Amino acid sequence: MRLCPRSLWLFLKSLNTMSPFFVAIFLFGLCLANAINFTSVYEWDQLDFVWPSNKNGSIGQLEQYFNSSEVYFRYMAVFEERLFLSLDINLGIPATLVWLPTSDTSTAPPKLAPFPSWDLHKYHICDSIQWAKGMQVDTEGRLWVIDEGDSACPSKLWIFDLANNDTTERVHQFPETLVSHYYKKRFLSELVLDKTPDDYLAYFADYQSEYLIVYSLKTNKSGPIKTPGVKWQSLAVSPLNREARQLWYIIRRSDAKELYSVSVSELKKAGESAVVKLIGAWPGMPYKMVIDSANVLYAGVFNKNYLSKWNISEPFLEQRFHEVATLRAEWPFSLALDANDTLWVMERNESGVNNKHRLLNAAVGARSYLFNQSTALPTL
Ligand SMILES: *[C@@H]1O[C@H](CO)[C@@H](O)[C@H](O)[C@H]1NC(C)=O
Ligand SMILES: *[C@@H]1O[C@H](CO)[C@@H](O)[C@H](O)[C@H]1NC(C)=O
Ligand SMILES: *[C@@H]1O[C@H](CO)[C@@H](O)[C@H](O)[C@H]1NC(C)=O
Ligand SMILES: *[C@@H]1O[C@H](CO)[C@@H](O)[C@H](O)[C@H]1NC(C)=O
Ligand SMILES: *[C@@H]1O[C@H](CO)[C@@H](O)[C@H](O)[C@H]1NC(C)=O
Ligand SMILES: *[C@@H]1O[C@H](CO)[C@@H](O)[C@H](O)[C@H]1NC(C)=O
Ligand SMILES: *[C@@H]1O[C@H](CO)[C@@H](O)[C@H](O)[C@H]1NC(C)=O
Ligand SMILES: *[C@@H]1O[C@H](CO)[C@@H](O)[C@H](O)[C@H]1NC(C)=O
Repeated sequence: MRLCPRSLWLFLKSLNTMSPFFVAIFLFGLCLANAINFTSVYEWDQLDFVWPSNKNGSIGQLEQYFNSSEVYFRYMAVFEERLFLSLDINLGIPATLVWLPTSDTSTAPPKLAPFPSWDLHKYHICDSIQWAKGMQVDTEGRLWVIDEGDSACPSKLWIFDLANNDTTERVHQFPETLVSHYYKKRFLSELVLDKTPDDYLAYFADYQSEYLIVYSLKTNKSGPIKTPGVKWQSLAVSPLNREARQLWYIIRRSDAKELYSVSVSELKKAGESAVVKLIGAWPGMPYKMVIDSANVLYAGVFNKNYLSKWNISEPFLEQRFHEVATLRAEWPFSLALDANDTLWVMERNESGVNNKHRLLNAAVGARSYLFNQSTALPTL
């Protein structure tokens, strides 16, 4: 067992003499008091898709080319009893946006189902989804998904109405002046939402550009917020119940670890003069950050077999809350918070011959950042 910073301090005081080296060993471990106890929901030795029964056309052919070792989960979102995941656009992957049930009574773990249907996953057909990436579920039950596109298709934002038969509510293709139609000149990754009294704004990071992209649901328009010298990587937004809502971000450069914040209202005003604050440094570059309605930021860092958190109401302090012995994955975890006080984690283990996956969840007592802090759900 390792000590936690607070108990360590008492321990130090009781000891009086302590070498800084000794302190460092204790500070960078998982401390039991910070640990979140996860429950395993599913475990897969090998992933598979739900293939269509009539093996007609290109989809039937794809089944024979499917290679489960090429499934790399990236971003995740949860709505009621469904969990959505985006996958890399690798060879042998028939759809980059899939869903799973959050609970299942069968003995075998569930298969990946294309979302919303096979029809919206057609290779090089630009009115279907090519490469799904960052995604969010809003308070109205809409799923917002970035589609990076591919060498043939430009980038888009898709909005699906999960509460209404998964209908496509919006497809917004970014103008060429904003997101290059040449696929080597863009790299979209993350999307975060900002709910205003009469609109929903989405902020996108394209780490080939020195601006943030902002889209308004009300006007159905997208535009840049210029940030000279700054390319964006991971984004997170603090919850609604904070007076001055902040956008938290990591600057894109090799091995950037520093976390910055900027006030969302300043971003809305102009951008160029926005005051940014350096907050602290993670143990590496985070691939994913998410903040819950109780102001706890959860983060996963490239190549680390643990997850970290920080209470953003307090001075920066990285606390590890989940750590596993061996995983050997570059991007070992996908994270998402639901509206029901649960944190979901998809864990990837590359240390064997086949990649193994586990879906975990834990009650954390707070919801996704877009919802008000309330543990009580409306009762019927
Ligand atoms: C998690 O489980 C361990 C071992 O059962 C226990 O000591 C610890 O208090 C638990 N932590 C939380 C936050 O429930
Ligand atoms: C098979 O695909 C063709 C071409 O897309 C289509 O016309 C036909 O209706 C399909 N058959 C079935 C059984 O789905
Ligand atoms: C499946 O993908 C893995 C990892 O890229 C590769 O090593 C393997 O050869 C592939 N299998 C087939 C049958 O193509
Ligand atoms: C919310 O969580 C409770 C307790 O874990 C569970 O009984 C309920 O089914 C969940 N509701 C949804 C919509 O997931
Ligand atoms: C929902 O979709 C199913 C399958 O496409 C269709 O049969 C059903 O009529 C739809 N329901 C509504 C309310 O649109
Ligand atoms: C939103 O904008 C896109 C352009 O990307 C356009 O094709 C679409 O029709 C618009 N949708 C609505 C509902 O105005
Ligand atoms: C975060 O820190 C604030 C201020 O110290 C405290 O009131 C709050 O309970 C903490 N939240 C959690 C979830 O620990
Ligand atoms: C990862 O897989 C290896 C090989 O199958 C196994 O030995 C190890 O226990 C697994 N790690 C975890 C955390 O499950």
